[in-house]
Amino acid sequence: MGFNILTLCYLIASVTFILGLKMLSNPATARRGNLLAAFGMGIAILGTIFLYTSHDTGEHLGNYPWIFGGLLIGGIIGTLAAKKVKMTAMPEMVSMFNGMGGACAALISVVEFGHLSKEITDGVVTAASVQPTVLIIVLGLIIGSVSFAGSMIAWGKLNGKVSDFSFTGQNILNLVILAVALTAGAYLVYDPTQSVLLYVILGLSLVYGILFVMPIGGADMPVVISLLNSFTGVAAACGGFLYDNKVMLTGGILVGAAGTLLTILMCKAMNRSLLNVLIGSFGGSKTAVAGASSDMGQIKEISLSDAAMVMSYANKVMIVPGYGLAVAQAQHVCHELEKILEEKGVEVKYAIHPVAGRMPGHMNVLLAEADVPYEKLLEMEDANDEFKTCDVVLILGANDVVNPAAKNDPASPIYGMPILEVELAKTVIVNKRSMKPGYAGIENALFFQPKTSMLFGDAKKVLQDLCAEVKAI
Ligand code: TAP
Repeated sequence: MGFNILTLCYLIASVTFILGLKMLSNPATARRGNLLAAFGMGIAILGTIFLYTSHDTGEHLGNYPWIFGGLLIGGIIGTLAAKKVKMTAMPEMVSMFNGMGGACAALISVVEFGHLSKEITDGVVTAASVQPTVLIIVLGLIIGSVSFAGSMIAWGKLNGKVSDFSFTGQNILNLVILAVALTAGAYLVYDPTQSVLLYVILGLSLVYGILFVMPIGGADMPVVISLLNSFTGVAAACGGFLYDNKVMLTGGILVGAAGTLLTILMCKAMNRSLLNVLIGSFGGSKTAVAGASSDMGQIKEISLSDAAMVMSYANKVMIVPGYGLAVAQAQHVCHELEKILEEKGVEVKYAIHPVAGRMPGHMNVLLAEADVPYEKLLEMEDANDEFKTCDVVLILGANDVVNPAAKNDPASPIYGMPILEVELAKTVIVNKRSMKPGYAGIENALFFQPKTSMLFGDAKKVLQDLCAEVKAI
């Protein structure tokens, strides 16, 4: 009876994971999707704790103080971390949590191999009969350890604790380490009595995870994290195989597939191959600094009062949010400006580039937090159709996603990346703090065009001042 109810719990949980993922693809349903999947995960966890019975002994899991102690500590840390984290530090937190998932998968492999070894020594099973299980154990160990070590380095890079590090021949050394780890893994599958190999594989996989992420530019970490996230999913699915646990298998496969798709989508939106991200050292710590005048010409500044005037008398204003808006946490005051302008009869919309900011959906989440209605957010294609009908485009801390070099400079690292074609509007106002480049480390010809005016300053402060100026008109 217990087993049947447990199977039902797993089925319900699997369905909630799939529905939850589907709902995450739309900002209007994302919050509920997340809660639904978390509810399903709760059912799966509680069902396993209370209903699972061992095939051999018929006993329940037991160890309740340990299990609930762990759940309590992990739950408190997770809740506090999630509540405290700033939106801009979200990729960092995802990386840390993902690393923990990889570590769990690797630990499962270590623990289960210990059980198998004992059974082989006690003569309960033969080495040959456990080879398929050892294969899954080795896969879970390698993938989980790489994901753990790589995620920790990604976490360190994002919060500035780890800097880029590479040396000549690093890619070759990485391949050699991986090849040795895989060969050791194959040998352990062939002869599961060679227990020491398990620790050799563990060590090599950890070193590989570190060296694999070390040379990748800090700015490419979101793509790396998404890739490592898919690794963790596959490693968890290996755990599902080991325990013959359907929900762990489904969950792992879903995470693996979603992470892979997200990685592909991010690369596509930046018009780069995954290989280029992994070994191309793009962005990173480049610090190309453009002056107020450069080969591209002279920039023109606009005062706050003039900017307020131009917007107040416009029919239609399109706001282009970017990474700088997130850094400045200016989403609420941005919504405020939108409302003040609309009270004056100006139509205001937002143009959302798929890789604006530093993580997928960054701008959608940010603006949703400030209660900007979803229908005001235009996806790139729709926004590009509407720019020609806009009197003013107000760019807030965005740079690469509006850089025309992506369209007309084949030598540019971002050439081919689809961009928001803001120059189609009558006037372009760009808010940023300086002439420093964005993520890709390159200058932006848009800033030097005759129809563009620069409005320097921190996005939050500038928006606060703009609100006051527009109100006064
Ligand atoms: P960026 O090109 O990175 O430009 C952001 C601009 O914001 C900077 O030029 C910076 O200039 C300005 N800024 C920073 N702090 C500010 C503040 N407090 N107030 C006002 N401005 C501020 O951003 P984007 O246009 O959003 O493009 C995103 C980039 O990230 C793309 O190249 C994309 O490929 C990459 N990327 C995105 C993702 C995802 S999934 N979203 C993942 C990986 C990589 P100042 O320093 O002069 O202020």
